[in-house]
Amino acid sequence: MKLPVDLWYPVLESQEVRRRPIGVERLGQQLVFWRDHAGRVHAHPDRCPHLGASLSGGKIEGDCLVCPFHGFEFNQEGHCVHIPAHGRSGKIPGGMALETFPLTEVHGFIWLWLGPIRECYPEVPFFPVLESRWRYGSIKAEWPVHYTRAIENQLDVAHLPFVHRSTIGAGGRTFIDGPYVETDEHSIRVWVSNLHDPDRPSQSQQALRKASSGKDPGLHFIFPGVWLLNISPRIKNLVAFVPINERRTLYYVRTYHRIHPRWLGKPFEWLMGLSNRFILEQDRQVVVTQRPMNSGEADHDRLIGADRAISQFRRIHQDLLARGVDSGDAGVVTE
Ligand code: FES
Ligand SMILES: [Fe+2]
Repeated sequence: MKLPVDLWYPVLESQEVRRRPIGVERLGQQLVFWRDHAGRVHAHPDRCPHLGASLSGGKIEGDCLVCPFHGFEFNQEGHCVHIPAHGRSGKIPGGMALETFPLTEVHGFIWLWLGPIRECYPEVPFFPVLESRWRYGSIKAEWPVHYTRAIENQLDVAHLPFVHRSTIGAGGRTFIDGPYVETDEHSIRVWVSNLHDPDRPSQSQQALRKASSGKDPGLHFIFPGVWLLNISPRIKNLVAFVPINERRTLYYVRTYHRIHPRWLGKPFEWLMGLSNRFILEQDRQVVVTQRPMNSGEADHDRLIGADRAISQFRRIHQDLLARGVDSGDAGVVTE
C-alpha cells in the first residue's frame, strides 16, 4: 500500500491490546500486536517465519510470543529463543526472527512508525488544546473507502447542508465564507463560516485571516491521520483515520469533554457516540460512491474555492509521498 513514511500512524486504541496477541490488518499489512509483562506493546508481521502460521492465534508466555503451530517462542526483539522440537539446548537457525515495528503509546493510542528505523524518533504530534484534563468516550467504524477520501470528507466544509440536512447541516446555510486555511509541513487548520447566501462573494483570504486571528481553528488536521473538530471550549470531536488497506479505512471517533457535574460525563459520551455514528453514516453513504477511491488518482476532480482545505490536503499528501513511500514489505522502506 502506498503510504507516506517517516510518520507516526495511529493503529489501535490502547485498550485493544491486552495480554494476548491480537491480529489486525493495518497500513496494508497483516500485523500481530502483543503486550509484554512490563506493559510494553510490540508489533510484527502476523506470519511465523517457520511455516507461515498466524502468530495472532498463539499466546504470550512470560515475555515471549508463542506460535500456535510448533510452539516457537519469540522475544520482544522478535528473536526466536526456543524451538521446542530442538529442545532447550538446541540451536536456533539464523534468520529465525520476526521483524519488529517501532511503536509508541500515548494519548490512548498505539502509534506505529512507518519508515526506516532511527536512533531516536520525533514525538507524536498531537493537538495542544487536548493536552490536559479531558475525558473522552469513543466509538469505532470501518468504511470501504480509501483513507484519502475519508480524510477529505472531514475537511469538506460545503457538504453539510446537503449530506447532513437533518442534523448538523440543518438550516440551509449553503454559502461558504472562506474557508481560511493555514498549513505547515504536517498540518492543516481551517476557519470557516457557513451562511445563508448573502449574495456577495466570499471575503478575501486577507480579511478572513484578520477575522480568524486569536481564534482556535474550527478544524485541525495533523498528518498522517488525526483530525479535531472544535465544537465548543468544553467539547471537541477527534477522529483518528487508520488505513487498513487500499479499500478500507478505520475510524476511531472520540468526543473529548469537560462536562460538569462529572456524573453526566458517561451519559454524555454515550449520546455523542450515538450522534457521531448517525452523522458519520450520512457521510458514509456518499463517500463510498466517490470514484476513483484514492483521491491521489482523482485527476478529473474539479475543486472549487470552498475546497481549499481539500486541495491543501492533496498538496501536502503528495509532498509527503514524494519524500518516500512504504513499499508494503514489513519494516522495509524504499524511495
Ligand atoms: S509455523 Fe510457527 S512454529 Fe511452526
Ligand atoms: Fe460530514
